[in-house]
Amino acid sequence: MGILQTLFKADEDIRGSKARAILIGMFVAFGGVLFGYDTGTISGILTMDFVKKTFTDSGEFTASETSLITSILSAGTFVGAMLAPLATDTLGRRLGLFISCIIFCVGVILQTIATEQALLIVGRVVAGFGVGVLSSIVPLYQSEAAPKWIRGAVVSCYQWAITIGLLLAACVNEGTHKRNDSGSYRIPIALQLLWALILIVGMVFLPDTPRFHVMKGDLKKARSSLCTLRGLRPEDKFVEEELEEIVANYEYEKTFGKSTILDCFKTGNHQLKRITTGIVIQALQQLTGINFIFYYGTQFFKSSGINNPFTIQLITNIVNVICTLPGIALVELAGRRRLLLWGAVGMCVSEFLVAIIGTAVPNSTAANKTLIAFSCTFIASFAATWGPLAWVVVGEIFPLRVRAKSVAICAGSNWLFNFVIAFITPYLVDEDRANLRSKVFFIWGGCTFLCILFVYLFVYETKGLTLEEIDELYDTVTDARKSRSFVPTNKFLEVAPIPVEQYSSNENNSLGEGIEKANVGYIEKV
Ligand code: BGC
Repeated sequence: MGILQTLFKADEDIRGSKARAILIGMFVAFGGVLFGYDTGTISGILTMDFVKKTFTDSGEFTASETSLITSILSAGTFVGAMLAPLATDTLGRRLGLFISCIIFCVGVILQTIATEQALLIVGRVVAGFGVGVLSSIVPLYQSEAAPKWIRGAVVSCYQWAITIGLLLAACVNEGTHKRNDSGSYRIPIALQLLWALILIVGMVFLPDTPRFHVMKGDLKKARSSLCTLRGLRPEDKFVEEELEEIVANYEYEKTFGKSTILDCFKTGNHQLKRITTGIVIQALQQLTGINFIFYYGTQFFKSSGINNPFTIQLITNIVNVICTLPGIALVELAGRRRLLLWGAVGMCVSEFLVAIIGTAVPNSTAANKTLIAFSCTFIASFAATWGPLAWVVVGEIFPLRVRAKSVAICAGSNWLFNFVIAFITPYLVDEDRANLRSKVFFIWGGCTFLCILFVYLFVYETKGLTLEEIDELYDTVTDARKSRSFVPTNKFLEVAPIPVEQYSSNENNSLGEGIEKANVGYIEKV
């Protein structure tokens, strides 16, 4: 573990088992494989000869059919993401994940048995709903379960799993696309049941997050969850300390009253600023145009005159997977702000170059090679920065009482823009419609320029802080540009120390009144 300590420079902060923290975080990240595979598989499926023969009368999908079948998944995911808190705030983060997997499996089965467009579309909506629920639970679970020294890296693994899912989908499609039977599409679709099964089995052994149990007033379970997650004994002083901090912070937040969805948009606790940051970062992540490559890349490279677009699609996926790795390492070293800024600059330059070269010298061999090269630098810049960081940021910037709802709204924003882009792109590039070809990259390039401005003005540096310290950061630093120099001043417990026994002796292990009186929070005290 020496390398880890050097890498994250967090020697003094690392408490409990490092291997366990990493393994648990990485396992939950596996949900990303479902997400990536499901979104990635359709573009290849729609270009398969057998599929075109089975699902269309003319032997070709029209632009509107392609648009509907591709984008309908994101409509389901949008609704799923927004409704996820109904399960996560009541039944828990863990049960919510189970439910999302079951719904996902139903959708996959419907798609597998489909032989006409209607059932395929219904199956995609249902599977999408499951993926949507899952997409807002995974970063939430990871942020709440991981220790602070590795939280960013753990959530970034979710993104890595998404990229692996996308790559797997491209590989499986490549393996089956020449088949002249229903196995061509049934194999890649049905394989997704395996990903869901792995996640379901693993979740049987994982606890719910300590923060969920604290929210439910069950300290006994919160303590036992912390012990499992950190690999520490219940009487360990680190368990005690972390639990006390979570409880004290939650009690302070409760003084703002009961939370509803509207509270996610209220100005108190700087929530409006936080939710705007989360919604915009997710929207911009989609507006970078990354899914233009992953949903329609095959068609785009083909129409740009590039031979063997399928291989190029495979290459772009491999770049995506490999370049996410430096992102995972850098998120705790360079921090959120720097990485997002560097990434936005890299994407902006690459996309404008693709647009200019593709427009100025279309169809020349040299231009095609340059087009591919800069598409790859664009993907690399995305993969190492905005891909993982959009999820890291939304997982960690919200206060506990509205965290699940806020993460859900932000994931909803991601899927809404995902849907819009998936829906309009066929019209933008179709030869009989707008026929923009490479010019479409002027749009994405312009959006990445907005990414630069947005990060500079609005994204706070949260590296190395606990979720509770991030609350203090938002409460005390008004300008995101100054957030890097923030040093957490007070822990709740330094202000109003309340030993956990004081309320955990309560019969139901629920939080007693004592803490509510004692804990007035740092704002008044500092
Ligand atoms: C995005 C997806 C995208 C993927 C690409 C994710 O973070 O939310 O829409 O397909 O990254 O790696």
